[in-house]
Amino acid sequence: MKNIIYCYTATGNSLYAARFLRERLPDTEIRYIPEELMNGRFEISAERIGFIFPLHYLSLPMQVEEFLARLNFTGTPYLFAVVTCGVPYWGRPFIDMNEILSRKGQRLQGEWFLRLVSNYLPYRDTAAQWRIKIRAWFAERKLKDIAESVAQNESHSTWQLLKDMCRRYHNEWRERRKTIDEKFSCDINKCTSCGLCERVCPKKNILRPEGHPVWQHDCVECLACLHICPTQAIDYGGVTRGRRRYRHSDIKIADLIRAWRKSK
Ligand SMILES: Cc1cc2nc3c(=O)[nH]c(=O)nc-3n(C[C@H](O)[C@H](O)[C@H](O)COP(=O)(O)O)c2cc1C
Ligand code: SF4
Ligand code: SF4
Repeated sequence: MKNIIYCYTATGNSLYAARFLRERLPDTEIRYIPEELMNGRFEISAERIGFIFPLHYLSLPMQVEEFLARLNFTGTPYLFAVVTCGVPYWGRPFIDMNEILSRKGQRLQGEWFLRLVSNYLPYRDTAAQWRIKIRAWFAERKLKDIAESVAQNESHSTWQLLKDMCRRYHNEWRERRKTIDEKFSCDINKCTSCGLCERVCPKKNILRPEGHPVWQHDCVECLACLHICPTQAIDYGGVTRGRRRYRHSDIKIADLIRAWRKSK
């Protein structure tokens, strides 16, 4: 395989970007990080290797960090990362990636933020449709440039602002890990027991002994369960009530389930 893109996605932004690049880079395979973690596939060999994932608390999603730490590379491929987000430049995902990669004698050659739409519903409501469309237009232009740069193995770095503050903020989040899912609730009057929340969870953190979800305190706060529930039965604290759920318009529910766990 010439190119491999490792993808992590909750609401489809990162999967959309991964697919866009796959279309423009011949001989490219997308692999899903939760599935690779589950199957223990950590040996990689390719000419170019990309990592596309969301910004979580100004740095890496917890499972992306775990995956990177366990990867074993053959040779020195061209490595690149595209981090999708609501607000670019505030954060340190590439610094943190390079810290992990340097232990393996590797380094990112291409680093890009890609601004799409924030899915962090506890902070604020999903952007209006007109704003989503404008962001999508700019994102597509940027992805075309990224594809050209990657195809030429070009070096590209980017701003990463307030690095020390971002490290503290990110670490505080990680320390709260065992209690993250205490804020989830399910309105059993709205729940139809469809099981989507359980199927989409990349940590197998949701059980449904009586049909509706019960969280098991091993959550990475990806928010896939919150956004995917078709009846909006799931909330994260009172603040998400009534806020619009989000999924990238090019990505189907089945694609997201595939991205987290192989369909049964
Ligand atoms: C736990 C969590 C933390 C987030 N933190 C940030 C952040 O610090 N900065 C930001 O711009 N977006 C943040 N976001 C928004 C996502 O990075 C953004 O919506 C991303 O494009 C989602 O990608 P996906 O659809 O592939 O999951 C956060 C989202 C989640 C769920
Ligand atoms: S996705 Fe929503 S409706 Fe389906 S089982 Fe989960 S909480 Fe219930
Ligand atoms: S419980 Fe929900 S937010 Fe937590 S890891 Fe699973 S899908 Fe993601």
